[in-house]
Amino acid sequence: MKIVEQIKQPIAFEMDLFEQKFQLAMSSKVALLNRITHYIVNRKGKQMRPMFVFLAAKMVNNGEVSERTYRGASVIELIHTASLVHDDVVDDSNRRRGFFSINALWKNKIAVLIGDYLLSKGMLVCIDNNDFDLLKIISVAVREIVEGELLQIDKARKLDITEDIYYEIIRQKTATLIAACCSLGAASVKPNSNDVELMRKFGELIGMAFQIKDDLFDYGEEKIGKPTGIDIKEQKMTLPLIHVLNNCSKKEQDWLINSIKKHNKDKKRVKEVITFVKDNGGLEYAVTKMKQFQQEALQLLNNYPESEFKSALILMVNYVIDRKK
Ligand code: IPE
Ligand code: IPE
Ligand code: MG
Ligand code: MG
Repeated sequence: MKIVEQIKQPIAFEMDLFEQKFQLAMSSKVALLNRITHYIVNRKGKQMRPMFVFLAAKMVNNGEVSERTYRGASVIELIHTASLVHDDVVDDSNRRRGFFSINALWKNKIAVLIGDYLLSKGMLVCIDNNDFDLLKIISVAVREIVEGELLQIDKARKLDITEDIYYEIIRQKTATLIAACCSLGAASVKPNSNDVELMRKFGELIGMAFQIKDDLFDYGEEKIGKPTGIDIKEQKMTLPLIHVLNNCSKKEQDWLINSIKKHNKDKKRVKEVITFVKDNGGLEYAVTKMKQFQQEALQLLNNYPESEFKSALILMVNYVIDRKK
């Protein structure tokens, strides 16, 4: 059995029902909106976030979920989708999930509005059902995503990013939402329990590993459904490059910074930078760090007794760093 099928096995029923509820949560009476949300629904992603929600809920609550868990999973996937639609505008990226991005097909104006629509639909799922505790978890995550994206833009402009700032960026723009998945899963069935904070921390750690993996994809040539090699073009410095910058000669540093500052749209030069990073152990370093976060996340699961849900969550932790897209 494929690893993803194995992970999904203990939550298969919930994931099926979730998909129906998610589609419904996205629908609109406005024709253009409906056309675009259909386009999005038909090109679904890996759905790792709802999987985290259900697995966390079931692990802390003896295999039981509630309607709140479904609503939580829908909100998270709506917010995630909104953040991707906006992210592709911000990153000027034309591919997503193996197809054209929303901005590539309908232009930025519409993509901005679609992102806002999905965001509001997500909030309303909580509000209409008085899930204000879940709404709070989600809203903190949304604020942090935006702060993380802005910090990243600020650092891309000034090119003065350090390793610690990189971790702060990825914690905010990516890990927070995965932390929200796990804490919200726990809170949906056991509000105010210690599990909520423990699962938040677990999600944050695995979320860090998740984004380091995503940044490693950018250095590869594999088909992952979105462009590779665009980070340097966007002057986005990620862990492999940051590490190499901190460990090369002054002359090499100047060449790297100059390449990113002035030659970031020059394909040949960008390739040279990528090769330099690879030749100087940048990828290996990032892999080591990714695995450290993964191990820290795994350790937190020792607080829970053995169950099929815990086993699936462990597989999920491994999938985050072994995945092919
Ligand atoms: C992409 O997330 C955005 C990042 C935080 C790197 P996913 O890789 O989970 O995207 P989909 O939903 O599967 O397309
Ligand atoms: C992912 O940002 C985080 C958000 C969507 C807020 P990236 O720009 O690194 O992710 P991809 O590679 O486009 O999915
Ligand atoms: Mg981005
Ligand atoms: Mg992007």
